[in-house]
Amino acid sequence: MIGGTGLENLCLQDYHGETVQTPYGQVQIDLGRIGDLKEPVVFMSRHGKDHATPPHLVNYRANIWALKELGVTKILATAAVGSLSTHYKLGDIVLVEQFLDFTKSRPQTFYEGGKNGVLHVDMTEPYCHSVQRDIQKAAERLGVTLKNNATYACTEGPRFETPAEIKMYRMLGGDLVGMTSVPEVVLAKELGMCYATIAMVTNEAAGIADHPLTHAEVLASMKTMGKTVAALVGETFKMMNPEQDCPCRLANEEAGKF
Ligand code: HPA
Repeated sequence: MIGGTGLENLCLQDYHGETVQTPYGQVQIDLGRIGDLKEPVVFMSRHGKDHATPPHLVNYRANIWALKELGVTKILATAAVGSLSTHYKLGDIVLVEQFLDFTKSRPQTFYEGGKNGVLHVDMTEPYCHSVQRDIQKAAERLGVTLKNNATYACTEGPRFETPAEIKMYRMLGGDLVGMTSVPEVVLAKELGMCYATIAMVTNEAAGIADHPLTHAEVLASMKTMGKTVAALVGETFKMMNPEQDCPCRLANEEAGKF
């Protein structure tokens, strides 16, 4: 699991911290167990345990490489988002279906030519439908209401958006706005891992809200939703088969594996 803002810890049992070395730098993770699940679960805090790393400086390549190195096949990511659409309301928990990429400065690929080759990875289905089905089943078991089918506009950050930008994202088909799903979802696909995002609507986007946005507002909303989402993640892991039964594992076939 990759925990976003407000989900810097997950209740893993018998966990211990580990440092994973990757070609892109070191990554700290917790390795532990959930319920009776026989496979271990990896927890990674995207922004660090104390929210020390802003979205544009997250080492996405190191994070995803480390998960692959540890044998992870399926990634559940959480993300705090603002809403641009009347359909997605404050407090909603939403499965992301598509993204619009407005990031500017982030390394977007493991395939930079040379010995690694070049890969034009297919993004027809960026978020894994098989993992999404498991999340949906877990939500039904827990009685948690989930919305789905959202398009996530990913901005560079760390600043919030102008109302004019929000208007543009909405006109282009965006439903939610956040700062981290890209390139995380892309890099996971490049390494053949399944990836799904559970978005939590923490605020109305700039210009829709009738007040200026603050990180404190995002954190306060997360406090009320964090427990539900942590329970949802735990329940999903319990019903997940670590074997991949979907096309995600074949995403880098054209370029070959590292
Ligand atoms: N904009 C960008 N990222 C966010 C927001 C927002 O309104 N809320 C939570 N993450």
